[in-house]
Amino acid sequence: MKVVVVDNYEAMSAEAAKLVEEKVRENQEAVLGLATGSTPIGLYKNLIEGNKTRGISYKDVKAVNLDEYLGLSQDHSQSYHTFMKENLFSQIDIKPENTYIPNGIPASAEEECTDYEAVITKVGPVNLQILGIGTNGHIGFNEPGTPGDSITHVVELTKSTRESNGPNFETEAEVPTHAISMGIQTILKGEEIILLASGESKAEAIKMLLTKKVTEDNPASFLWTHDNVTLIVDKDAYQLVK
Ligand code: GLP
Repeated sequence: MKVVVVDNYEAMSAEAAKLVEEKVRENQEAVLGLATGSTPIGLYKNLIEGNKTRGISYKDVKAVNLDEYLGLSQDHSQSYHTFMKENLFSQIDIKPENTYIPNGIPASAEEECTDYEAVITKVGPVNLQILGIGTNGHIGFNEPGTPGDSITHVVELTKSTRESNGPNFETEAEVPTHAISMGIQTILKGEEIILLASGESKAEAIKMLLTKKVTEDNPASFLWTHDNVTLIVDKDAYQLVK
């Protein structure tokens, strides 16, 4: 794992954008694995800027997202469909039919998982996967205890994840209890992975990751088993690393 420590959120976002744009420049039909959360918003702002002013086009790029809440329709204000549309897809020239996110209200969640895994196999391999990290080390929605060989699956969200993501919802009862997420094995099939971490709230997770101990208790630790991962971390998130 290559570790790049930068000053702040803006520098992390710019550094990540440079790598994504390089990938899209060298392969106009690149498959990008994308993440939600507050962490990649700055990266997405840079990509929008690049699309508008630096001639980087996404017209033949495909995007597959990591996860979606179960129980939220595509147009729910807190769905990851809405998040991606608002923060990236509606502002660049990517074709909607080239963007893939699990369906949050499937007739059968199990079937949706199988179908989504098949979609990733069909459009993949993901050339560049973007990841954030949860305060408990989760990647996608793979909570501690998720096996390293997991594929797309239904996840029961932990209390800590529901609390972290809760403020975006009007009431606590509205925070989904389950999600569909690419599994750890699905994520590790990506050819190149960029893990982003910013802010003090991620310091514990980054400290744990950089012990290099691979364990189910820390889903992000499985990234040590991949040979092309770059962690871009700001000083606040890196502060507990000795
Ligand atoms: C959610 C997402 C993850 C994301 C994590 C961290 O749980 N499923 O993909 O990495 O939150 O979010 P944030 O970037 O807002 O800290």
